[in-house]
Amino acid sequence: MLSEKMIKALNEQINAEMYSAYFYLAMNAYFESKSLAGFSHWMRMQAQEEMLHAMKLYDYVNGCGGQVVLHAIAKPPAQWHSPREVFADVLSHEQKVTGLINNLMNLALDERDHATSGFLQWFIAEQVEEEAHVGAVVDKLKLIGADSSGLFVLDQELAKRLPPTVQ
Ligand code: FEO
Repeated sequence: MLSEKMIKALNEQINAEMYSAYFYLAMNAYFESKSLAGFSHWMRMQAQEEMLHAMKLYDYVNGCGGQVVLHAIAKPPAQWHSPREVFADVLSHEQKVTGLINNLMNLALDERDHATSGFLQWFIAEQVEEEAHVGAVVDKLKLIGADSSGLFVLDQELAKRLPPTVQ
């Protein structure tokens, strides 16, 4: 049984994950406009993954007998100056999401809600992975600098990202 406070916090996280999907879809659109097909593909897969995160939370709230309440999704940005700037934004966004997940876990622990803290453990591990993957792309973009052939190689690498699955 979830407390009202926990249901509210989980509903807010559903919104944060939905916003993440929107945020990455905006980046997908940006890369489409720049004809960077691999970067564009990576962002589309990322947006899909965020929807799966939102639905994992959604199903959990429903499964525990709580009511999901959907909130408005904020407008994401539309313009960036470079792929490097985009990925710097991705990393800082994911760091922010990690903070939100940690806050949710803190609430579950405060409430001695062991079911929710067990459920959230998956998200804690997921954030470690997300930050590592995105951080590696940020590092590569720093090395590439203004070298367009390096950007082309990275674009091909990002094109290989597989569709997301969430257990
Ligand atoms: Fe759902 Fe990228 O965190």
